[in-house]
Amino acid sequence: MKELKLGLLGLGTVGGGVLTLLARNGEAIARRAGRPVRVVAAAVRDVSKPRPGAEGVHLSEDIDAVIDHPDVDVVLELMGGTDAARDAVERALRAGKPVVTANKALIALHGQALFDLASEAGTTLSYEAAVAGGIPLIKALREGLAANRVHSIAGIINGTCNYILTEMSQTGAAFEDVLAEAQRLGYAEADPTFDVGGIDAAHKLTILASIAFGIPLSFDKVTTDGIGSVTAEDLAYARELGYRIKPLAIARRQEQGVELRVHPTLVPEKDLLANVNGVLNAVVVRADAASPTGYFGPGAGAEATASAVLADVVDLARRSTGTDMPALGQATDASDALAPLAI
Ligand code: NDP
Ligand code: HSE
Repeated sequence: MKELKLGLLGLGTVGGGVLTLLARNGEAIARRAGRPVRVVAAAVRDVSKPRPGAEGVHLSEDIDAVIDHPDVDVVLELMGGTDAARDAVERALRAGKPVVTANKALIALHGQALFDLASEAGTTLSYEAAVAGGIPLIKALREGLAANRVHSIAGIINGTCNYILTEMSQTGAAFEDVLAEAQRLGYAEADPTFDVGGIDAAHKLTILASIAFGIPLSFDKVTTDGIGSVTAEDLAYARELGYRIKPLAIARRQEQGVELRVHPTLVPEKDLLANVNGVLNAVVVRADAASPTGYFGPGAGAEATASAVLADVVDLARRSTGTDMPALGQATDASDALAPLAI
């Protein structure tokens, strides 16, 4: 079957994760996709940086050259920001190439124009990785809960903030030290004030609310407060009183519209969300039919995010060939030909 060839815009934390996952699970991914998937080109700022795992990938500092590369079937926008990224995504969509992005700022701020452009160009823009890293939350809301009337979405959707508050609370580490560690681990945004100031969570909440409540993308309507003012003393007092301080994002249906809020919140210690620690994210959706439903998993990091990016790629590949997922009991990889163990 003909390969699906990917052009990456950005080969940092997430782009590197895509290469790692394809190298490790490529065979299984090909089975599920109905065709092999390979990265053929990538745009970076600095081609001279060492890029382990990128052997055989054509590297360029010219974004357009990757988008227009005749071999590139699908463009993965994994560079972040909203200016160059918007231009790049528009160019790819105009060329009729499907785009997969992990960029929540881009979708929250310019999503509507980009979706319209994709539809005019007869192609698609996918963004599973833009919210809650490795948790398949967009698919759950769009597909799994499609028959529901959603009442509320509440959860932890920024891994960096949850990591910082968890470490400060559990180990007494200083804010700046934990933030530096989150950056080293690849969790934080290029500009970490987006994490700490609640802006990243507000971008994600904007996207979730638009899907769940059918409202326009409304980033400017999110009341946003970051974790910058939370002190070690606040965390200790909260603990003494039987609470945890968690960076919550909440979207709630009200009579007049949808309330959208991001802020550190006192959560009773027995509550599910109080026990979600480190880089983990968790989201609880309340609706009229299946309710509550909960979603939990790694909210940031190379492989977790790449898992969501490649889920979109697999969807695209299957649509391109009309392939369904392997049937029940059908091995997805020769090396996965497992039998149930008799215990
Ligand atoms: P990184 O900063 O690690 O990587 C960015 C990559 O893009 C780098 O390879 C960089 O090149 C390249 N790049 C940036 N600007 C340009 C440009 N103008 N021209 C060419 N190349 C460019 O970011 P991440 O991988 O962490 O994040 C990428 C996207 O994924 C962002 O939108 C982010 O919000 C999103 N995301 C990130 C998650 C995470 O856990 N990190 C989780 C979910 C989403 P060079 O290597 O030469 O510097
Ligand atoms: N900076 C983001 C976070 C990355 O920490 O949650 C995942 O979107």
